[in-house]
Amino acid sequence: MFSTIKSFLEDRRDQSLEDLKQFLRFESVSADSNCLEVMKQTAGFVRDRLAAAGLKTEIHPTAGHPIVTGEWHGAAGAPTVLVYGHYDVQPPDPLELWTSPPFEPEVRDGKIYARGATDDKGQMLTHVLSVEAWLKTTGKLPVNVIFVIEGEEEVGSNNLDLFLAEKKEEYACDIAVVSDTSMYSPELPAITYGLRGILACEVTLTGPNRDLHSGVFGGAVANPINILTKMLGSLQDDNGKVLIPGFYDDVLELSDEEKKQFAQLPFDEAEFMNNLGINAVQGEAGYSTTQRRWARPTFDINGIFGGYSGEGPKTIIPSTATAKITCRLVPNQNAAQLTATLKSHLESICPASVTMEFADFHGCEGIFFNTSGPYFQAASQAIHHAFGTEPVFIREGGSIPVVATFQEIFGVETLLLGWGLNSDNLHGPNEHFLLENFYRGTLASAKLWEELAP
Ligand code: BES
Ligand code: MN
Ligand code: MN
Repeated sequence: MFSTIKSFLEDRRDQSLEDLKQFLRFESVSADSNCLEVMKQTAGFVRDRLAAAGLKTEIHPTAGHPIVTGEWHGAAGAPTVLVYGHYDVQPPDPLELWTSPPFEPEVRDGKIYARGATDDKGQMLTHVLSVEAWLKTTGKLPVNVIFVIEGEEEVGSNNLDLFLAEKKEEYACDIAVVSDTSMYSPELPAITYGLRGILACEVTLTGPNRDLHSGVFGGAVANPINILTKMLGSLQDDNGKVLIPGFYDDVLELSDEEKKQFAQLPFDEAEFMNNLGINAVQGEAGYSTTQRRWARPTFDINGIFGGYSGEGPKTIIPSTATAKITCRLVPNQNAAQLTATLKSHLESICPASVTMEFADFHGCEGIFFNTSGPYFQAASQAIHHAFGTEPVFIREGGSIPVVATFQEIFGVETLLLGWGLNSDNLHGPNEHFLLENFYRGTLASAKLWEELAP
């Protein structure tokens, strides 16, 4: 029976690629207010594609971008699987660094290039295609499915949490499945059992009510950029420790067992550095690069601006300075609580010569799953079948806000089955997705439904 599904998928490869191309042509940048209309059209495309696959679909408007759902409940007695993905993408900038335009998908060297190719349109589509293969060849699925595809992941999923809270009973499920992470390497597929959380905020300092001549006023009036850099500089010591009060209090420390598992994964630090064009790695003293990336919290300034940034010099005391900040969090750290701590700490060290404003953008908790249960074993089997290699269990450093929400609202764990690669340039220019992984991911997904059935 499974061979019929496999042939169906193989026969449809060209059509599947066309579907993906069509999906990638939508400029669905959730952060960009000019994309409101396109976001609706993209949601419409997702709805139509889910319906064509044989699911009962609905578009749910939110205060932000719409959520699309698709359901099939014909497998009495079998588990119900919540499948999540996101149709929104990151802004494509800087445009000049793209070889082909970000919203005109192009295949080169067995890879499809476009914004969203791997994050998350290509990965998400694998599950739609696999469900379609089952329904069109056998008329049924081995499990019940609820697809929830949102358009606000890249801006923090704030409206999705509200939506899911309302659906607590209706969407009761046994396990969630998300393909929005990465394989460990091109040769080594992975199941991700831990992700970092995040807090994202913005701080603005205002000094004088206008830019001032730095000769006439300099030395006597506060310079908000000087002050902001000093304040933010004080939040990290020379050993890479974050100095926000209580920052490490709740951190889930790595067990010796886990440290050993990390160390057993193939990792070439010289190649890692070479690939990034850096001469040395840097981070919290006493931790390896892998430990720092997957299991330690961070403090990062994502952007800092104010004053003059045009050509040549300009002698001013700027009126304002702003910094965009994110902290990656690890399991057991609380995003809302640490955001409040960060805010009050900054207020406490902010001098009277400037005023401070603080904007809380979004936050989510890190997650960590025990991989010994039957669902993780089922996923491992499915991946082995499609990739010819047993997956490794890894953690990753990125964040997917809804995963903690699934645990909180439905009490379920999430199978994070990544078909992407760290080299896919997600969030960067020339984002791409290896077509081989698109097809193998689809096959693994098709197999997973069978493996998850009793
Ligand atoms: N798919 C990524 C998260 C990811 C990437 C996890 C690679 C593991 C490996 C997701 O779309 C993403 O970019 N998330 C944001 C979080 C968000 C709240 C803005 C992130 O991690 O920056
Ligand atoms: Mn993603
Ligand atoms: Mn992303």
